[in-house]
Amino acid sequence: MAHSIENTLALLQDAMTAHRQALARGPSAESIQPIAEPQDRRAQLVLKLLTGVERRAGIEVSQPAAEKLLRLLASTDIVELEAWVARLDTLPASHPEWLSLIESLTVHETYVMRDPAQLAFFAAQLPALIAGAAASKTYLLRFWSAGCATGEEAYTIAALTLDAMVAAGNAVAAETGITLVSPWRIEIVGSDISQLALTQARAGIYDTGPLSSFRDESEPLLGHFPFVAATSMSGMAVRCASPDLKAAVSFEHFNLIDDPMPADPFDAVFCRNVLIYFSTRARKQALETLRRAVRPGGYLLLGPTDTLIEAEAFEALWAPGAVIYRRRQNA
Ligand SMILES: C[S@@+](CC[C@H](N)C(=O)[O-])C[C@H]1O[C@@H](n2cnc3c(N)ncnc32)[C@H](O)[C@@H]1O
Repeated sequence: MAHSIENTLALLQDAMTAHRQALARGPSAESIQPIAEPQDRRAQLVLKLLTGVERRAGIEVSQPAAEKLLRLLASTDIVELEAWVARLDTLPASHPEWLSLIESLTVHETYVMRDPAQLAFFAAQLPALIAGAAASKTYLLRFWSAGCATGEEAYTIAALTLDAMVAAGNAVAAETGITLVSPWRIEIVGSDISQLALTQARAGIYDTGPLSSFRDESEPLLGHFPFVAATSMSGMAVRCASPDLKAAVSFEHFNLIDDPMPADPFDAVFCRNVLIYFSTRARKQALETLRRAVRPGGYLLLGPTDTLIEAEAFEALWAPGAVIYRRRQNA
């Protein structure tokens, strides 16, 4: 989902309004200093904001991000901006004003069955994962799509998993939907730092067309449980996550840089096309969280340009055009 510049501006304006309201609530410790050279000072403040974003969300300080923020904040009164930046500096990553700012700097590009070779390779591991869950009598499959954006990745994983479960005889498909054979459970968690993206993910309604969530026509690879064709209120052709896909997936807010590790490990963790936006420091920190979230024998799936550093605990499995990492049983 791409943010329009209007959305971005609205987000920043909301954050600035919140700042003004906080100031209006009464005297605070913030000191508003006179500024000698407004233009230079503005650039310094933007850099300070971006450094704060890197510290709180991992996103690398970059020239395009600086230019974007400079453009967005060009008409903001410099004294007001100075005070806002000083106040933000005291706030934690989870504060709505930081989240609004981070929202305007994140890229939510995603689509169904993105990177088909890697996902098909993952799907080929599903029968063994299912057999393992039966052998260990957990009858539970847990997957994490970290940085899921608008949810297409999490629903893709759900469709592949349901297909494998029906093939294994652990789920029954009927006209009315899919029923898992008791006591089987599927838990697919989609998480993101962006509340806007998560709202769309929960709705599970996607445009169709050349640059849409279904852009590369690999949806047929999803198997027997694809998205349902429908017409939106405005008469547009859309596709929706079916109730079966929705039942398998839940979405939650999670900051890969700031939040504590998920309590329970996963059979597979997907974090694709997220770490490319991170600084080296943040990438290392996020990878540590992701690695530890994979149970022994489970899988880690990264984006095509991500490499697993300090990978002794994992073995790389290769297929044409794809790599996935399996955590060693004793690691
Ligand atoms: C390009 S999308 C990737 C979507 C999907 N994984 C895919 O490969 O199609 C990157 C996502 O990472 C999220 N993100 C960026 N920083 C994050 C952080 N610190 N914690 C969690 N998610 C983050 C963004 O909000 C964005 O939705």
